[in-house]
Amino acid sequence: MNRLDGKVALLSGAARGIGAETARLMIEAGAKVAIGDVLDERGRETVRMLESAGGEAIYTHLDVTREEDWTASLSAVIGRFGGLDILVNNAGVFLGMSIEEATLADWHRLCGVNLTGVFLGAKLALPALRESAGRSAHGSVVVNLSSVAGLVGSSGDPLYSMTKGGVTLFTKSAALEFARKGYRIRVNSIHPGTTETDMGDQVLTMRARNLGTNNLDQARQQALARLPIGRMGTATDIAKGIVFLASDDAAFMTGAGLVVDGGITAQ
Ligand SMILES: NC(=O)c1ccc[n+]([C@@H]2O[C@H](COP(=O)([O-])OP(=O)(O)OC[C@H]3O[C@@H](n4cnc5c(N)ncnc54)[C@H](O)[C@@H]3O)[C@@H](O)[C@H]2O)c1
Repeated sequence: MNRLDGKVALLSGAARGIGAETARLMIEAGAKVAIGDVLDERGRETVRMLESAGGEAIYTHLDVTREEDWTASLSAVIGRFGGLDILVNNAGVFLGMSIEEATLADWHRLCGVNLTGVFLGAKLALPALRESAGRSAHGSVVVNLSSVAGLVGSSGDPLYSMTKGGVTLFTKSAALEFARKGYRIRVNSIHPGTTETDMGDQVLTMRARNLGTNNLDQARQQALARLPIGRMGTATDIAKGIVFLASDDAAFMTGAGLVVDGGITAQ
């Protein structure tokens, strides 16, 4: 189940967090991976870790807001591994500000990564994904990192929610466009709940601030009280969902959203 033997994946924002864990699980499933990020030192360290566990991995500097970085990263991946089967648009930033606090510059920065980055990834990886789709029984794959905040409203960070809502519907629309054109590229999104990563810490910091405290434990207890499963997500919980979506076991899924949120949006 969930095998990726012989597949090549490019994961944006995978120097750490959910992306790095996904790279690790993809290698375990038989894939070769390229990690693109702006955190060059951390990204190279992640690649060294993957290689020391016997995996084939490269690091490529990739600011997802820059077209020229995508072009160079895709050339690096294809040069090293000969093609691209899976794109994971994972890079994302969190704002943690109210509508009243956020400036236009904050909004543009957020959009640049969370929206422009996803559009550029899908657009510029398309020729390589189309080519490998022809060699694969179930085609190529794009997985976009949305969020529960891309399904329901977020009282703490409405602008982040707006960008992730965009990712949710872009996923469906891209899936339909590629299917209409006969490209054999499945496009799905994943919707994590609060997950224990650097971004998860930022979410808790924002929650604490909105509770009028800087006590993160208090914010954590408040978050846990609302979680049916009674714990926060781990990067592994989310990475397993991404590996499934990238594998042929999800061959009949496109334009779908996989919710991995401990039940938070069920209520
Ligand atoms: N952690 C959560 O609670 C949570 C919940 C829902 C959705 N998500 C989504 O999951 C994805 C991964 O988040 P994470 O929790 O691992 O966070 P993280 O902050 O640990 O990792 C995000 C990564 O994206 C990279 N990044 C930021 N700007 C970039 C840019 N311009 N170009 C390339 N890389 C860039 C960062 O350097 C970092 O390595 C994000 O899209 C996030 O919105 C996270």
